[in-house]
Amino acid sequence: MTHIRSYSPWKGPEPWLDTNPIGGVEIAQAMKETVEASACGKVILLGEHAVVYGRPALAVPVCGLRARVRAEPLPRGSGCWIEATDVGGEIGLATAPPEHPLAMAVRLALAHLGLPEPDLRLILRSELPIAGGLGSGAAVSAALIRAIFQWGGRPADPEVVSALVYEVEKRYHGTPSGIDNTVIAYERPIRFVRGQPPVFLSIARPFTLVIADSGVPSPTRETVAAVRAGWERDPERYERLFDAIAELVQEAERCLASGRIEDLGPLLDANHQVLGELGVSSPVLDHLTEIARKAGALGAKLTGGGRGGNIIALTRPEQAERVAQALRAAGARSAYRTEVV
Ligand code: MEV
Repeated sequence: MTHIRSYSPWKGPEPWLDTNPIGGVEIAQAMKETVEASACGKVILLGEHAVVYGRPALAVPVCGLRARVRAEPLPRGSGCWIEATDVGGEIGLATAPPEHPLAMAVRLALAHLGLPEPDLRLILRSELPIAGGLGSGAAVSAALIRAIFQWGGRPADPEVVSALVYEVEKRYHGTPSGIDNTVIAYERPIRFVRGQPPVFLSIARPFTLVIADSGVPSPTRETVAAVRAGWERDPERYERLFDAIAELVQEAERCLASGRIEDLGPLLDANHQVLGELGVSSPVLDHLTEIARKAGALGAKLTGGGRGGNIIALTRPEQAERVAQALRAAGARSAYRTEVV
């Protein structure tokens, strides 16, 4: 726990000592301190959309891009406030509507711990683009939930964090597969199948990705709904496309386990192609992936919901800067390098 400042916000007897159901002096002490928590972003390597329909997908954390929460105790009776300047200012927990995603994350964490509304300011900042396919929504929820756990002096078990974030995702995203909350809560590369516990990926050789933002926000809820509409119109065609993606995922998993990183590139390209056939690519995403390949990437694809958001390019480490520069020159809002280990 990061102890930033000492507070003595309570004038009377410490309320937590008598009433706190998880009890104890240590916890009462934790509740008086400012604490900080964070959660990473993520990229889907292969398998988005098909994963909603029971196929496997591979996802990795992006540890350097994070949502961060600082929880500062307030004087007794102040209530709980979430300060989220990036997404619309300050929200009071007592008055926020039930479906407000930030309030929901905090309420779920408090309910899980059996705690009443605290006197607390939760200051939220995120380095992740909103509606960019990098798991911003799940990361923000996970960081808030971890902050509440930390403030309450309780360890934030990844399985519990994942389950609580999933509750928020369901309300917010319609029919999420559960991959975002899982990879973000465990902060490890995973193979994910809906409804099953994650399998941690064995990665024989680290590799480099360049993540480039098209600058076009595209809510996942909308692209998932568009694929659903297509699937309802022509289920056989869509099932065939999902199966094709599943085969690419399986081959990619073998490449990762045996360290054949070069062989992963064409699999990303092929996955991008099938995502185009599913109707979730766009001229901008096709252009950026093509630019990345021409600049020397081993392969490139859209990542996440598509129709906007980010692309990933797999590069040799020595070519990452060149690929990133080419993407920026082609109009990408940002190009970020990350190592997957
Ligand atoms: C979003 O990161 C990935 C999608 O497959 C949706 C989901 O799995 O919930 C598009």
